[in-house]
Amino acid sequence: MKGKFSLLTMKNFLNIREIKQLPKNSEFETMGLVSKFIRRKDRNDNPFWEITVSDSSGDIDGKVWQASGWRNTQGGDDFPIDPDNCGLKFEGASVKIHGNIAEFREQVQYNFTEISYLDQNDYPPKMFTRHSPVKAEILEELFMHLIAEISHEPLRNFVEAVFFKHGLWEKFKIWPAAVTLHHAYTGGLLEHSVSVAIGARDMAEHYETFTIPVNIDLIIAGSLLHDIGKLEAYSVNPAPQVTISGSAIEHIALGYGMFRRFAEIEGLDEDIAKALGHIIVSHHGKREYGSPVLPITPEAFIVSAADNVDFSLNYWKSQMDALNSDTDVTDYLPAIDRRLWRGINPA
Ligand SMILES: [Fe+2]
Ligand SMILES: [Fe+2]
Repeated sequence: MKGKFSLLTMKNFLNIREIKQLPKNSEFETMGLVSKFIRRKDRNDNPFWEITVSDSSGDIDGKVWQASGWRNTQGGDDFPIDPDNCGLKFEGASVKIHGNIAEFREQVQYNFTEISYLDQNDYPPKMFTRHSPVKAEILEELFMHLIAEISHEPLRNFVEAVFFKHGLWEKFKIWPAAVTLHHAYTGGLLEHSVSVAIGARDMAEHYETFTIPVNIDLIIAGSLLHDIGKLEAYSVNPAPQVTISGSAIEHIALGYGMFRRFAEIEGLDEDIAKALGHIIVSHHGKREYGSPVLPITPEAFIVSAADNVDFSLNYWKSQMDALNSDTDVTDYLPAIDRRLWRGINPA
């Protein structure tokens, strides 16, 4: 069955945040970018797919069962396709989704009943990509200020060299800080790094007053560098994706490797390199969270605490934005092993 596909008007569609406000048993239509596409098999060997679709309002994880319809609407056509034998790459594609909302084991489940492959000439990825809610110019200015605050000249020169001489900056300023969970959007890595640096610096100043010796230069440099491994761990395609290096080596080890290379090239003092390297490898705070060592210096305690708070708050906010207005608590979130609460209204 071949048909004509006319350009869709966005107003007929719900964005992903709006879909998440719908009650169970609702149907919906949306458009977005495929950020995850996994083919699986059920117990009876029938294929099904787990697909994540993203737009500027959020992400939605859906299941596509065997009976669902797949269509190709490129070039003004509209005809059914077999996703296994159509030669189309769905990851990074713009798609139109028809779906419904069901409940499975007391959790909301989104079923995608029809997936239409859209023409990216008409529906370019930039229609659906998310950006940091903080303006790029503000983040960039804060970043430059933070570097300028590093009073130890060799360390300041080193941080400048990493970002500007070795060419990290062009990627760093637009990179996401994650694929899902937190700061998973354009500019997310810069926003997160700047936020961690400011939070950690302010905490360090507080503890200086309370007579704990903390090296603020190391705190700022460590915060700005702590997640540089994400430049190799993720690709932007245009939705954020984990690279093979990201899966096989992970951003902490990747970041430490990059840091050591730069430290050698720039001749960074070995004691400073040890202290900074320790901040990078310990910043997740626990071995089960991916850090090979636990923080053992005041600077590492502070950066890892600031990292955790920044991640948690950004994740909480994205969950609250997506939460149905008649509930105050999310479903159980396996990624962080808890449900999240809106808290009491400050008013
Ligand atoms: Fe990290
Ligand atoms: Fe981080």
